[in-house]
Amino acid sequence: MRSLIDILELNTEEIEELIHKANDIIANPSKYSEKCRGKKLATLFFEPSTRTRLSFEAAMYELGGNVLGFSEAQSSSAAKGESVADTAKMISCYADIVAMRHPKEGAPLVAAMNATIPVINAGDGGHNHPTQTLTDLLTIYREKGRLDNLTVGFCGDLKFGRTVHSLINALSRYKNIKFVLVSPEELKLPGYVKDNLKKSGLEYVQTTDLDAVMPELDILYMTRVQRERFFNEEDYLRLRDTYILRPERLSNAKEDLSILHPLPRVNEISVAIDNDPRACYFKQALNGKFIRMALILKLLEVE
Ligand code: NCD
Repeated sequence: MRSLIDILELNTEEIEELIHKANDIIANPSKYSEKCRGKKLATLFFEPSTRTRLSFEAAMYELGGNVLGFSEAQSSSAAKGESVADTAKMISCYADIVAMRHPKEGAPLVAAMNATIPVINAGDGGHNHPTQTLTDLLTIYREKGRLDNLTVGFCGDLKFGRTVHSLINALSRYKNIKFVLVSPEELKLPGYVKDNLKKSGLEYVQTTDLDAVMPELDILYMTRVQRERFFNEEDYLRLRDTYILRPERLSNAKEDLSILHPLPRVNEISVAIDNDPRACYFKQALNGKFIRMALILKLLEVE
């Protein structure tokens, strides 16, 4: 039995396999509509979510399975003081697979160590978010036809943005990726992620100037400044509008740039960009459902 806590637990062949499976699901949805008949997914969300939770639930329904769970800690026994380990043991009695989001880094790992069913990390604090990364990889693959030979810009909150950490770790295993890290000084990529990057031997640059690097980018991964991880509101207010992507900023961008964002967007991408063919973030949200279907099939070992 396997869980998914960190994207690096999947090797590149397995990622390729998941991407191919998701593409097959997109092409032949009816083939998969009964695959999880009689199976239950538990969504344990101790932190707010729209896309991640609903895409997991939609994924399980489209596989013919059922869903149970909760969407806020206050409506679970955590409010009475139950530990994550106990919740995991208990939920193993009721479901076949779990997707867990938690504000504490490492909580889904603790759950996986105590559950007898597969646990999927659906975001743990400012740490990791492997299924968003699978979503991002599927989107890049569908837009570009490859996961190597790309210049990838990450812009915004690279310190607290868990989707950034997981995606950088994943892309570090591909050939000829150049990372362009655009953030305010205070929101730079944490040292432990940078260490992985350095180990990969891939080229990276850090800058505060989005406009200067725009012409080089094949992918621009915009992020929200993660208000809930700040220690004081003043810092958040000072930093939140550092980068706002408006149409004029794209004037010197590549024609085939792909703009990604894990969503939710606050105001870091102007709605005027939504109809630009380079905007991929709503397609990306849709891809999230298909890759989660592929992942559920893999972890439940359904042929
Ligand atoms: C992201 C998350 O939860 O980390 N959202 C998501 O899963 N689609 C990004 C964010 O909240 O900014």
